[in-house]
Amino acid sequence: MDSAGRFAGRLAVVTGGASGIGAAVARELAAGGARVVIADLDLARAQSLAAELGGEARRVDVCERDQVVALFAGLPGAPDVLVTSAGGAPRSAALDTDEATFARTLQLNTGGFWRCAQEAARRAVAAGQPLAIVHVASSLHRGPAPGLAHFAAAKAASVTLVRCLAQELAPQRIRVNAVIPGPVETPMTTPVWDAAPGLRESLGARIPLGRIGTPADVARAVAWLASDEAEWVTGALLPVDGGLEVAA
Ligand SMILES: NC(=O)c1ccc[n+]([C@@H]2O[C@H](COP(=O)([O-])OP(=O)(O)OC[C@H]3O[C@@H](n4cnc5c(N)ncnc54)[C@H](O)[C@@H]3O)[C@@H](O)[C@H]2O)c1
Repeated sequence: MDSAGRFAGRLAVVTGGASGIGAAVARELAAGGARVVIADLDLARAQSLAAELGGEARRVDVCERDQVVALFAGLPGAPDVLVTSAGGAPRSAALDTDEATFARTLQLNTGGFWRCAQEAARRAVAAGQPLAIVHVASSLHRGPAPGLAHFAAAKAASVTLVRCLAQELAPQRIRVNAVIPGPVETPMTTPVWDAAPGLRESLGARIPLGRIGTPADVARAVAWLASDEAEWVTGALLPVDGGLEVAA
């Protein structure tokens, strides 16, 4: 940990911080000197990373309001940084997707961001402190997303929330931004790509910069948005996708 780094003295909460992109963000923030709270459903993995980084682990289901309230109430103070990476959805063809899957996907990917942003912002406002929120959305929010229409819709709603919250909370010195990752190799995607020979390579070939992303690619962009270097940036939706958004 760098006690003189750009996050020295900052308290950072990372939801979904036990794995993949969230874990890489936790590492990046800790390397910059932040005190990192890894908030995840998977407490064992959160604890193991927290031990490595000198941070803290909390079990939370971001779909449950009372658990989110307890998470922020249990912090030593108002957070300076919130990164919302908890998310995901099962693949399901549009005509096979049932009510429970659709509702749970919105609860996690839209509601999880909303609840955590709201509770973190309430704490920051009460403490009279600034706050930087960075949401991890997805390039699929633009659609099309075969087998993941429910997920794309949930991420699209979360992106709209980012823009609305950025506008509404700016007077309270709360910045709200999002990264829009393209395909990234994580424990979520590795089994899917391993099960479909050639998919990883064909995805990489569609990306102008010639490869799928790593969690660290996304984490560096998140850390920049969370840092004072981005102090005049809010409401931004930053593609971190090797140029996929501008691909022909
Ligand atoms: N991997 C990609 O290609 C990719 C691309 C674009 C966007 N994303 C988004 O990035 C985020 C992280 O994805 P990842 O690939 O790192 O996945 P991952 O599965 O490696 O990590 C997700 C983490 O979220 C946690 N989590 C899931 N549900 C939770 C809940 N209800 N409450 C608290 N924690 C919960 C999991 O335990 C896990 O640790 C997700 O929001 C995902 O939609 C991923």
